[in-house]
Amino acid sequence: MRSLRKTVLLAFLVSVVLVLALLHSWPTRSYATVDVSQRPGSDKHLEDRLPDADPRSGDIPYRVREGVASLLARNGCVCEGKSAAVNLPFSQLLFPRVSASALHTAFQASELEALKERRAKEYHSFQTRTQSPADALLIAEANSPLQYPTQGVAVRPLRTILIPGLALHDIHKENYSLNITATLGTLNVAAEVEGVKVKGDGEMHMTLSSSLLPSLNRQLQFVSYTNTLFHPSTADTLQLQTEGHQAAFIIKIGHGATPKLYNTGPKGEYNISALVTIATKTFLRYDKLQDLIDSVRKYYPTVTIVIADDSEHPQTVSGPYIEHYIMPFGKGWFAGRNLAVSQVTTKYVLWVDDDFIFSSSTKLEKLVDVLERTTLDLVGGAVREATGYTSTYRQTISIEPGQEEGDCLHMRRGFHHAIAGFPGCVVTDGVINFFLARTEKVQQVGFDPRLARVAHLEFFIDGLGSLHVGSCDAVIVNHATKIKLPWVGQSESDKTYAKFRYPPASSDAAHTKNGLLFFKNRLQCMTHN
Ligand SMILES: *[C@@H]1O[C@H](CO)[C@@H](O)[C@H](O)[C@H]1NC(C)=O
Ligand SMILES: *[C@@H]1O[C@H](CO)[C@@H](O)[C@H](O)[C@H]1NC(C)=O
Ligand SMILES: *[C@@H]1O[C@H](CO)[C@@H](O)[C@H](O)[C@H]1NC(C)=O
Repeated sequence: MRSLRKTVLLAFLVSVVLVLALLHSWPTRSYATVDVSQRPGSDKHLEDRLPDADPRSGDIPYRVREGVASLLARNGCVCEGKSAAVNLPFSQLLFPRVSASALHTAFQASELEALKERRAKEYHSFQTRTQSPADALLIAEANSPLQYPTQGVAVRPLRTILIPGLALHDIHKENYSLNITATLGTLNVAAEVEGVKVKGDGEMHMTLSSSLLPSLNRQLQFVSYTNTLFHPSTADTLQLQTEGHQAAFIIKIGHGATPKLYNTGPKGEYNISALVTIATKTFLRYDKLQDLIDSVRKYYPTVTIVIADDSEHPQTVSGPYIEHYIMPFGKGWFAGRNLAVSQVTTKYVLWVDDDFIFSSSTKLEKLVDVLERTTLDLVGGAVREATGYTSTYRQTISIEPGQEEGDCLHMRRGFHHAIAGFPGCVVTDGVINFFLARTEKVQQVGFDPRLARVAHLEFFIDGLGSLHVGSCDAVIVNHATKIKLPWVGQSESDKTYAKFRYPPASSDAAHTKNGLLFFKNRLQCMTHN
């Protein structure tokens, strides 16, 4: 009995000490360590602050507009194919069929559950890395006497700013008072105004009060915020309270983005050699590569050409303004693109395949002009086949949010808008293998080296949301490889090339591709036409 009482007493004492310690450290916590597993202040309690709906509005009837309601995101997404309605010659050309495929088939049924769990875990940590309170929904309640900034206030890590726009517009009172609460920094006043009482300056919770509203509002112009806890690219949610009303607003905390600028020389005509590097990847086809180099030299004698090469027995490719990088045998298509692009030092990089041929229609100046005068990051051109057929291979890509099963990927031929002032140019999401891009943006997105063989649009899927893509059909490069007819003999290197580059659809390469879409991009299925 006595020992029990002793334990209870001891436990009581310990909790009192703990509470005192907590209270002592409460207002101005100094953070020695930062929990980098989660973004501070991103917890969910903000949602509790959403104003309640007006209870009188609950009973008012409404009518759903099907046309609009069907556009809103459903609970989860689906991939549905569409077969051609009529079976006519050229029907695939006129009414392209939409095919749908599920991506989990890349894996054995037995490993799928464990895989989904791992994907969910990785996705969760991706979300905590990429979301901040600045993404949270904030509502300004009607008729609040509080005036405050709703967006656009930012502070550099551990620095101080004046909070702009704070004011109170209240009805006449004996005594006006206002509370401000921060969580990742402290509040203070940069100047004092007579007749205003300030409590809690230098702390996270500050109360300002005065019997004179104009004095209080004058004082509010001098309220400063000092960030005390830095965690990259987060935001502090500040609470503002007066009697009967409250509001919240966001102060973004972070370094500014460091610019990466290229010195492109004096103004005048575009100097392509100074602005553009041509990058390509080759595998076995040295004759084609030499034709490409010769054709480039006819129009751009001093532009640098970067070549990534993973042939088994590499041959020497040399000459002025040529950089030839030899890779381990069979490293693959995207690994080579990555290597080539990583070596570019000019503002723009032009991607070409090793079997393209420049002609007088390959006017790089036009593509440079588009990127110089718009906010696009990447602009594709057109490729003319030996048959005379020209294609731009424009694709729109969208990712529809799904639930635990993953999101749905939809790809369609086409584009979003024409670009004003640039005839023949459009905004889209994915383009052909012939494009000019801001080097820095392409390096940021990167080419996933796990995609060794057939791959192209995967780069644009990875870049969706960060790459602004356009396409112009007036800049044309020729494709040297003729469409293979079965009765025409192929050279030995062409045959080996075809074996590596175009494996049968059921092979490992197709599985790798679907597996990456499934896990890395967290997709459940895709549709395309
Ligand atoms: C006004 O209210 C605040 C807090 O509500 C209080 O601290 C302050 O003393 C009051 N001032 C006057 C003049 O009554
Ligand atoms: C302001 O904060 C103080 C505690 O610091 C609290 O007593 C007071 O009720 C708050 N005022 C309002 C209007 O919320
Ligand atoms: C174009 O740029 C290259 C490489 O920077 C330079 O060597 C050349 O002199 C420039 N040409 C002109 C006409 O400015």
